[in-house]
Amino acid sequence: MRRYHTITGLDVGTSKIKVLVAQKGSESGLEVIASFQEPSMGIRRGVVVDVETASGVLENTFHNLQSQIDQRIDSVYINIGGAHLFCLPSHGTVAVSRADQKISEEDIERVLEAAQTFSLPLNKEILDVIPLNFIVDGEKIKEALGMKGVRLEADVLVVGGFSPYLKNLSQTVLNAGFSIQDVIPSPLASARACLTPRQKELGVALLDIGAGTSGLAVFEEGNLIHLAILPIGSANITNDIAIALKTDIDIAELIKQKWGSCLLSKKEEKEKIEIKEPEPLTLTRKMLNDVIAARVSEMFEQVNKELKEISKDNPLPAGVVLTGGGAKIPKIIELAKKELKLPCRIGKPQGFLNLEKDPSLSTVCGLILEGADAEMGVGVPVFGRGIGSRIKKIFQIFIP
Ligand SMILES: Nc1ncnc2c1ncn2[C@@H]1O[C@H](COP(=O)(O)OP(=O)(O)OP(=O)(O)O)[C@@H](O)[C@H]1O
Ligand SMILES: [Mg+2]
Repeated sequence: MRRYHTITGLDVGTSKIKVLVAQKGSESGLEVIASFQEPSMGIRRGVVVDVETASGVLENTFHNLQSQIDQRIDSVYINIGGAHLFCLPSHGTVAVSRADQKISEEDIERVLEAAQTFSLPLNKEILDVIPLNFIVDGEKIKEALGMKGVRLEADVLVVGGFSPYLKNLSQTVLNAGFSIQDVIPSPLASARACLTPRQKELGVALLDIGAGTSGLAVFEEGNLIHLAILPIGSANITNDIAIALKTDIDIAELIKQKWGSCLLSKKEEKEKIEIKEPEPLTLTRKMLNDVIAARVSEMFEQVNKELKEISKDNPLPAGVVLTGGGAKIPKIIELAKKELKLPCRIGKPQGFLNLEKDPSLSTVCGLILEGADAEMGVGVPVFGRGIGSRIKKIFQIFIP
């Protein structure tokens, strides 16, 4: 069998650092050859706040990973998260340069450059410019290359972030001894792993509920039309439980994962939860459910607000796909349908032959799939134009 080189995805998450190494297995998918997860340190709400501590965790993670395979890993695809990420619609116009009026790669580059001529605060950085539509002499089209025209316009979505956070992330990875192949915003990586082209064409929102953040990516007509990271995640639920029960955070996490649910039947409401160790605790499932449902509903309220702002006319026929570790809480789909008034379902990573379809692995799987798109020429990268994209160039600036 023909062997391809490996691709490594590194998800720098608020609760866990997750690494997967994969290679092309067969026509139908990628094969995971090594994986490791480690609790994160030095990361708050998706952002590296302590570079030294976070790189220490990374070094340890890779040390463990490396013992599973005999080839050396030195470059990785990474995600970027945090509420500092933003997106802005923009527009550019240029005159077609060639005498025969045929639109060239260079014209496309120029019109995308023109769409970025707006002022940003000094500490904000453009990560990528995603073309939504081109307009040739007033006619809207998807792909302008090779067409004939005089005036070329582009509608784009500009994605950016807060420079010091971008720098912290790149330094963490570089300090741990790795080079960065590409950087992809977390919800876009998850979208790559969980959504189908048809869903993106119809109109769909992906919500990746992590520990510290919830990433939202909205697609219409195949294009990304909105990206936002909400500073609320499943760790908020754990904190609420700890406060409500006046107990330790680890016990609250255990209670959430063992008995937590977003919706209960009348019979379940009356059921009692009793914990003996390390301290005796008694509560009803109803008490627990009230705390969880209040926080999850608040999260969906924020999602609703974002969706209302961007798709006033189109109600997203393919609905909302929930993924991330936080989507594993039972009955979240029922609560989501009630609050968002849209079709909702759980999204699990697709495209791997030997991997458990776990929603908390969506981001790391998406990073590998994006890498495979770029390196093996399978499909179209969701973010920018794949390898060699602007985002990669920006991160190289930060190489010490
Ligand atoms: N079975 C479960 N029931 C409820 N919550 C769960 C379950 N499994 C995991 N979680 C929650 O999912 C969260 C972790 O999800 P995930 O691994 O996607 O986060 P992350 O990527 O580290 O964080 P972020 O994306 O915010 O940076 C934790 O808060 C954890 O409590
Ligand atoms: Mg995450």
